[in-house]
Amino acid sequence: MRNYSIALIPGDGIGVDVIREGKKVIDTVCELDGGVSIQYQKFNWSCEYYLKHGTMMPEDGLEILKNFDSIYLGAVGYPGVPDHISLWGLLLPIRRQFQQYINIRPVKLLRGIQSPLANRGVEDLDFIVIRENNEGEYSSIGGRMYEGTNMDMAIQNSVFTKHGVERVLRYAFELANKQGKRKQLTAATKSNGINHTMPFWDEYVCKINKEYPEVSTDIVHIDALCAYFVTRPDTFDVVVASNLFGDILTDLGAAIVGGLGIAPSANINPEKKFPSMFEPVHGSAPDIAGKGIANPTAAIWCASMMLEHLGETKLARAIMVVLEDVLAEGAVVTPDLGGKATTEEFGDEVCKRLKERYK
Ligand code: NAI
Ligand code: MG
Repeated sequence: MRNYSIALIPGDGIGVDVIREGKKVIDTVCELDGGVSIQYQKFNWSCEYYLKHGTMMPEDGLEILKNFDSIYLGAVGYPGVPDHISLWGLLLPIRRQFQQYINIRPVKLLRGIQSPLANRGVEDLDFIVIRENNEGEYSSIGGRMYEGTNMDMAIQNSVFTKHGVERVLRYAFELANKQGKRKQLTAATKSNGINHTMPFWDEYVCKINKEYPEVSTDIVHIDALCAYFVTRPDTFDVVVASNLFGDILTDLGAAIVGGLGIAPSANINPEKKFPSMFEPVHGSAPDIAGKGIANPTAAIWCASMMLEHLGETKLARAIMVVLEDVLAEGAVVTPDLGGKATTEEFGDEVCKRLKERYK
């Protein structure tokens, strides 16, 4: 038996619904395989937890999570608790403490999903964005002074380190070299306007490129890059970006391949010294929470990425094949994709198809 331990953090709102379906799909595929056993432990760390305890997770939360193979998270955030509390109280500490410095966000149009870009199909939209996940623009360095006076001011410093930049670039080059269809890497920059950190970033792109001479590299300003995502998405292979640029780019990336109900993300510690965390890009969607209509596609795709990371490539692929079959047929899809199915009905359909196809 191959054994894995997974920490489940469903979180708030629709996070709870979509993780339930994702877990169901994992259980189904593992049962069909027969050689995998997964021990889950569920944690109710969330905004509800915060309202009761005054913290998003217990003091030894990270200590507890450290021993798991993976973390499978829904979403946190709910009206009544400020978003910076849910983010800085749970998600960011996990990403940082566990050195999940790679954020993988595939921009891939699944079969059956209509892109809002005219005349674009699955062959046009298939690339990967690697976002730096530990430093850059999202640093807590800075402060506020003279609040409430006419001299009111705020400073937030960006942090770009040799260590941080080299490791994310090396990961992206490696990916482009090994898995890229065209061995092509696009690095997002803004070295015209941001004249210290971005030329630093560009310099390391050129330096690491020397280790990967087979990879052809483009350094593109972030504003132009946004436009190219829309006008020529078919030209990308692997895109690498700093924390903020990657964050913004990938919402655009999600939009061109069908929206937030679809987009998955993986927070990876490549060395596997710490657990990696898998979570949909979407949030807790208070507007549809409790209605049972959230699309669990992103969460199920995340489940596939998690199995892939654990080394269960065959199971990961099986999930994607069936997920795309169900979407392509379109008979059982959620309202965001124009269907009438509930979250649960969609999850059940994926499990049913898995059993039919792989029994
Ligand atoms: P959101 O992603 O929760 O919702 C944006 C829109 O997309 C809503 O109209 C929602 O109904 C729709 N949507 C999202 N996921 C969907 C799904 N699976 N199926 C169908 N429709 C879906 O973003 P919003 O509204 O900006 O944030 C809500 C809360 O979630 C906030 O508290 C925010 O801080 C938090 N959040 C948490 C994240 C996380 O835990 N990783 C990420 C983003 C937001
Ligand atoms: Mg974002």
